[in-house]
Amino acid sequence: MKKAIYPGSFDPITNGHIDIVNRAQSLFGEIHISVIENPHKSPLFSISERITLIQQIFADRPGIYVEGFHGLLVDYAKKKHISTIIRGLRAVSDFDYEFQMALTNRHLHPEIDTVFLMTDEKYSYLSSSLVKQVAKFKGNIDSFVPISIARALQEKYPS
Ligand code: PNS
Repeated sequence: MKKAIYPGSFDPITNGHIDIVNRAQSLFGEIHISVIENPHKSPLFSISERITLIQQIFADRPGIYVEGFHGLLVDYAKKKHISTIIRGLRAVSDFDYEFQMALTNRHLHPEIDTVFLMTDEKYSYLSSSLVKQVAKFKGNIDSFVPISIARALQEKYPS
């Protein structure tokens, strides 16, 4: 079965990310959702909280694996013997950064390729940071994230 890594901060995972996982799995079969342990930004959810929340969402989905990683993404991919990285694109504004990352990764390990998938247009404006902002000020996030994530955000931002 073809395998791919879907890396990210996932702080927290949103319906846009889930849409990408679904699309990726129809192409690759086995998807390794890889949660970065030490992003530059200090995350709201700890690495173990993010992993657990994602595992719960995909609990009944064969072929979806969730784990944390640190260090260079390409080193992690190589260690796992996976040569495809999936990234989601929402809008043209994502492109510059993604292009830079993909080419840097290719420079580091030429045998690893990045495949870009476009999110459903209904998620094209969605981001984890906006979801957190809306949740913090008690806005309705029901159409942005699964219910488990909405509850986890409520716990982080008690009234
Ligand atoms: O969800 P994000 O924050 O956009 O994900 C970014 C991520 C985790 C894919 C990126 O920061 C990454 O790959 N970090 C690992 C360190 C690394 O390999 N850096 C060089 C890539 S240019």
